[in-house]
Amino acid sequence: MAGSLLITRIGELMTNAPCGMSDEPGEFAVINDAALVIEDERIAWTGSSARAPAADAVVDAAGRAVLPGFVDSHAHLVFAGDRSAEFAARMAGEPYAAGGIRSTVAATRAASDAELRAGLHRLVSEMLRQGTTTFECKSGYGLTVADEARSVALAAEVTAEVTYLGAHVVPPEYEGDSGRYVELVCGPMLDACAPHSRWVDVFCERGAFGADEARAVLAAGQARGLLPRVHANQLGQGPGVTVAVEAGAASADHCTFLSDADVAALASSGTVATLLPGAEFGTRQPYPDARRLLDAGVTVALATDCNPGSSYTSSLPFCVALAVRDMGMTTAEAAWAATAGGARALRRTDVGFLAPGARADLIMLDAPSHAHLAYRPGVPLVRAVWQGGRRVGYGLTAAVG
Ligand code: NIG
Ligand code: FE
Repeated sequence: MAGSLLITRIGELMTNAPCGMSDEPGEFAVINDAALVIEDERIAWTGSSARAPAADAVVDAAGRAVLPGFVDSHAHLVFAGDRSAEFAARMAGEPYAAGGIRSTVAATRAASDAELRAGLHRLVSEMLRQGTTTFECKSGYGLTVADEARSVALAAEVTAEVTYLGAHVVPPEYEGDSGRYVELVCGPMLDACAPHSRWVDVFCERGAFGADEARAVLAAGQARGLLPRVHANQLGQGPGVTVAVEAGAASADHCTFLSDADVAALASSGTVATLLPGAEFGTRQPYPDARRLLDAGVTVALATDCNPGSSYTSSLPFCVALAVRDMGMTTAEAAWAATAGGARALRRTDVGFLAPGARADLIMLDAPSHAHLAYRPGVPLVRAVWQGGRRVGYGLTAAVG
């Protein structure tokens, strides 16, 4: 964008502005009848419409809501194939099992780079169209040195938040010898993936990796400068949250089955609990109890877990609606968790809020307030998206105001 842009007559501007000396996103906060100014890639000013400064260009929001762009801190976007038959069987009563991942592994290994890139780009544009301006992307459907390396390299083409998930499941060729596979994950596979990755993740769950294996994977990644995050307590109670907190993970993800000790451990740690209601929707599991976590003082993020098995949605608005309807979150808590919460889960201090200095990643809804995200479930409310100060061409309607 050349010059400054003023967006004025915003019905509700959700700011999550930093409080005090912190440069992190702050509490949920809104300004009514608001305006904001974008200069280059950043927010330069926010305040009431009546006091808005002049700018080179003006957009009239005509009473619509403006929010920070969504921050999707958990997604598996590099894969090939389709598991709709597995989904249909689950909806007919079959249980979800971690082993389904292997069918996507087979399809991903058989796919060309061009096929994987095309699928990735399709999902990225779906996300952007639904207001996601920052997203994490995991490997984990290759599970050979070469296939994991190309997965993280492809992910790095579309995001800075790349996660090495070689420890997703034990692949068939290592069946019965998870120790040897963990050695590969901590050795040659890590060597090949670390240069393209910021994060290391492990699926710590019955049917995937146990506590000691998970500790080994995280420690190896950390020794290479990667930051830990963990798939924890998705399918049952277990050691995932403990391992995540011990490792100082930025986030423990899923948190569907938690003991009181898990909740207390999260509350006294810097580890965010990232809840993924799309996975409970897609597997017919009970939803995680966000209220219990929030009441204990845990920082909660919402993310899509977009993947072809458990949660094939790229929509954070859908996740916000589920969290409000079925997880005990208020509309404000859920909207915060999908923006500022996601930023915390990715340890990002430049996104998830709208105040001077923040990256100009923002969305305008075809609605007067954030509450409509849950009040109008399934409705494409994202009217316009700015990413780094530039209006992106994925809006569902052409004209903004
Ligand atoms: O987060 N839990 C592990 N991984 C994914 C599921 C992946 C799959 O079923 O393909 C998840 O739900
Ligand atoms: Fe996941």
